Amino acid sequence: MTKAYKNYVNGEWKLSEESIEIFAPATGESLGTVPAMTTAEVDEVYAKAKAAQPAWRALSYVERAAYLHKVADILVRDAEKIGAVLSKEIAKGYKSAVSEVIRTAEIINYAAEEGLRMEGEVLEGGSFEAASKNKIAIVRREPVGLVLAISPFNYPINLAGSKIAPALISGNVVALKPPTQGSISGLLLAEAFAEAGLPAGVFNTITGRGSVIGDYIVEHEAVNFINFTGSTPIGERIGKLAGMRPIMLELGGKDSAIVLEDADLDLTAKNIIAGAFGYSGQRCTAVKRVLVMDSVADELVEKIRQQVLDLTIGNPEDDADITPLIDKNAADFVEGLINDASDKGAEALTEIKREGNLICPVLFDKVTTDMRLAWEEPFGPVLPIIRVKSVEEAIEISNKSEYGLQASVFTNNFPLAFKIASQLEVGTVHINNKTQRGTDNFPFLGAKKSGAGVQGVKYSIEAMTSVKSVVFDIAK
Ligand code: NAP
Ligand code: G3H
Repeated sequence: MTKAYKNYVNGEWKLSEESIEIFAPATGESLGTVPAMTTAEVDEVYAKAKAAQPAWRALSYVERAAYLHKVADILVRDAEKIGAVLSKEIAKGYKSAVSEVIRTAEIINYAAEEGLRMEGEVLEGGSFEAASKNKIAIVRREPVGLVLAISPFNYPINLAGSKIAPALISGNVVALKPPTQGSISGLLLAEAFAEAGLPAGVFNTITGRGSVIGDYIVEHEAVNFINFTGSTPIGERIGKLAGMRPIMLELGGKDSAIVLEDADLDLTAKNIIAGAFGYSGQRCTAVKRVLVMDSVADELVEKIRQQVLDLTIGNPEDDADITPLIDKNAADFVEGLINDASDKGAEALTEIKREGNLICPVLFDKVTTDMRLAWEEPFGPVLPIIRVKSVEEAIEISNKSEYGLQASVFTNNFPLAFKIASQLEVGTVHINNKTQRGTDNFPFLGAKKSGAGVQGVKYSIEAMTSVKSVVFDIAK
């Protein structure tokens, strides 16, 4: 019988009248149902969370950290069990799914420890007018209140944990809205918080389709901070609905790998393959285009092609490199990009083949800037090679993107690599490595349409706290 998963609200597990059935993208197997919450139920989540905040905020960092360490221990203990469900629910290779759970536990532990290092500062007056020399400001950080965390399908656990843990350690309360395809995994994450015994109302979940309840949960006046990861159009919508409330947006990307003439081409090809085809390209940080100098293009392209042919294609439980995409719409979109590139004369160096939602990995050479593939984010296993004549041309094409998440530069000329890094309009540049998030204490951000705000444990804590300054005069 299909399992009916429940939401975790104010320390209790709750069903809703309506539910949504979740199917495995790779097999069509039913994995269970999740509640489709009503707006009245959302009101209840928020009211209970708000009521729980004063007592949670009043705890010391060390007390809140102890709860988070318990959550992390439970996740490590259950990593294989949760990973098995996650793997099926989002068609992610089993080993990667287990790693996602372990990585989440590591982030939670790190956030707990980072909380212990939270400190304010004392400022002295007297810098602007002599009369203010007796003034002292004590500057501290306070929790913002109720954080709404919204995670995407490709990392439903990890990109929930990276929001929840920094929010909680700072004294905030949280409502997690997981992606619908990924919501069972989100609710398994919630089980760890429940078992760790967090006070009722401190951590809660909301399931339901974003297209149905998204606006309501975002616009709700109870929410003090919206921490969202997902597509750029939904992020832009949330930005508008948020009004004056602070937000964090992690959105789409079109990361370039720029390959110079002196690059180690074996290292470059290996990184490009891992960067472009990991989880079938369904990573915000995937390498989504290669900008290679003409003089080394033939050699690099052949090395990449050989490795594309070695990628395994199949099901997530077998740890295949390439697995079916998350749904039919995603596969149709990728197919549209492939067809557009083919029609406009790009050279496919691997067979173009689709079976249902499974798209076999495609390497396109000689992609030009009139093709959609030069600019759009496929979120699938298709990699365009764009041949360029100069570093300047590579930078120009890279910067013309509406996105600005990350880029890679492959070269052994480090001064030049740093110069290029300073000219690229992105949040992070990797030298001689694939584009990637992390490690998770590093800042992670997107320029332009790739986001707003800075993640990374310490940075996330700073974002989800506000400065409070108390000023007084000391005796003259
Ligand atoms: P998505 O369709 O934008 O959905 C993301 C989340 O938003 C889901 O939980 C979704 O719920 C919810 N949602 C949908 N409509 C909403 C609304 N009107 N209001 C509030 N929430 C709403 O993105 P996705 O397909 O899951 O993820 C893929 C995208 O995320 C890609 O563009 C990728 O680049 C980006 N991404 C970016 C980063 C980063 O760090 N920059 C990381 C990972 C992914 P439902 O599932 O119920 O619709
Ligand atoms: O999809 C977006 C994730 O933040 C990417 O993380 O680079 O570790 O795969 P990753």
